[in-house]
Amino acid sequence: MKKILIINGPNLNLLGTREPEVYGKLTLDEIEASLKSLAGTLKVEIECFQSNHEGEIVDKICNAQNVFDGIIINPAAYTHTSVAIRDAVSAVKIPTVEVHISNVYSRDEFRHNSFIAPVSVGQISGFGLDGYLYALQYLSK
Ligand code: DQA
Repeated sequence: MKKILIINGPNLNLLGTREPEVYGKLTLDEIEASLKSLAGTLKVEIECFQSNHEGEIVDKICNAQNVFDGIIINPAAYTHTSVAIRDAVSAVKIPTVEVHISNVYSRDEFRHNSFIAPVSVGQISGFGLDGYLYALQYLSK
């Protein structure tokens, strides 16, 4: 059975109450519950992890080597700043899909650059919960 790691970065623990006009009203727990339900249908195993700390995210990616077959990551603000997370994704060579709830390209210019996208299989931006579900479907193949 394939194992997929789902990582959510800083402030995504606040989903549901954080700028609902940008990020919608679903909580992270609700997003993770939908992913667990789809994982059951697709017959894959998932682990969900959220952290507000860059180093913890780097550790999680490094420790995924030889354990997980795919990674779905919403690096949140670290998307636009973190060479360390990019290098971790690049180092472990696990197919990784970058997901954003909002369409980062219709927002502030500083959100248009991603350090992670060039070392990812692909990026999904602007589809809310569906983006995570599409990524899980893709990595489960
Ligand atoms: C985000 C977009 C980022 O620019 C922002 O810093 C986030 C969330 C998204 O899911 O739309 O925290 O990754």
